[in-house]
Amino acid sequence: MTGVVEVQITDVAFGGKGVGRVNGKAAFVSYVIDGETVSVRITGEKRRFVEAELVAVARPSAHRVTPPCPYFGRCGGCVYQHIEYGHQLAIKTRQVKQALARIGGLIDVPVLPMIASPLEYGYRNRITVHVRDGVIGFFQRESDALIDVERCPISSDDVNAELAQLRAAHPGEGHYTLRGRKAPRVFAQANDRVAAAMLDVVDWMLAGASGTLIDAYCGAGFFAKRLRNRFARVIGIDWDAHAIALAERDAQPHERYIAGRVEDALLRELECCAIERGERANSTPLIVDPPAEGLSSSVRQAIAQLRPDRCIYISCNPATLARDLRELRSSFRIDSITPLDMFPQTAEIEAIAELTTLQRHIVN
Ligand SMILES: C[S@@+](CC[C@H](N)C(=O)[O-])C[C@H]1O[C@@H](n2cnc3c(N)ncnc32)[C@H](O)[C@@H]1O
Repeated sequence: MTGVVEVQITDVAFGGKGVGRVNGKAAFVSYVIDGETVSVRITGEKRRFVEAELVAVARPSAHRVTPPCPYFGRCGGCVYQHIEYGHQLAIKTRQVKQALARIGGLIDVPVLPMIASPLEYGYRNRITVHVRDGVIGFFQRESDALIDVERCPISSDDVNAELAQLRAAHPGEGHYTLRGRKAPRVFAQANDRVAAAMLDVVDWMLAGASGTLIDAYCGAGFFAKRLRNRFARVIGIDWDAHAIALAERDAQPHERYIAGRVEDALLRELECCAIERGERANSTPLIVDPPAEGLSSSVRQAIAQLRPDRCIYISCNPATLARDLRELRSSFRIDSITPLDMFPQTAEIEAIAELTTLQRHIVN
């Protein structure tokens, strides 16, 4: 299949590609908006779908705007700069619902309106740039070639000042993580104001909880530190020893941080802290904030087995969230899903799922 064809774009899929139909097959094309009519060139054809590149926008969406970044379209970072921000939020919210329905079989879960980022640009408090053959910048879209970047408009002024300094220093080949302020060298949320909103939501969701809080995948204790004064004991688990050392630095006597795999520590800690206190293991509220791969099957099983009364799942990947909730729904009621836009202009989506244990049926 060659040549240029006209396509009606009906949706924008997770990852940022617009979806239309060509010769009865789904067609995927970047930098378009649902509702647009565009002409595209077919670049690849598979059994069930075709890939295409945008040639021209015949009928533009009312949501189309001019991207402010000169690298947009080539840089691998942003995919939505051509879409007005309110519509980006609508697209991402729909993508969360679609992932829950298609992957998780969850059609009846309340998905709340997405929490917007107060800053549409200039929000990123850290970036990693790569240096190779004198080029300093980011990977190009769908390629391992680098694009030379002088300024990144989604990054804060502080981060861009660091980038300018790095460029002036003619650095050697390698990867450089630039942090605008004096920040520790461990995982940290990348958008301060959305991270603050995330903390507020989790704090509010656990407002009635008490006893022992377990913060799994705790990093340097982002959630644990905020919530610690409301709990008798706090246990954090992360395999990053540097993050755990940082969390321990200002730990109060009732806080304990464990450097280890959640797979090994979670079940053990949930069981022993319950036995020590003579409590039911499931009165321990649990926060899980895994990486994009989501929960491993052993962690899903441990959570389902122990059924903490409340479980707050912070996700950076709607697909793995949907997969994990599909399994957890036999032990938990899914009260709400709150999507958050931590990374405007990019395809990334964060979401907080609020789960309450289902009472076990007592069979005589
Ligand atoms: C998305 S980050 C969340 C960190 C922290 N909750 C925060 O908000 O700053 C995921 C964390 O999980 C840790 N991690 C990933 N897989 C793990 C595993 N299997 N066991 C323990 N920690 C893990 C990483 O070191 C990282 O700190």
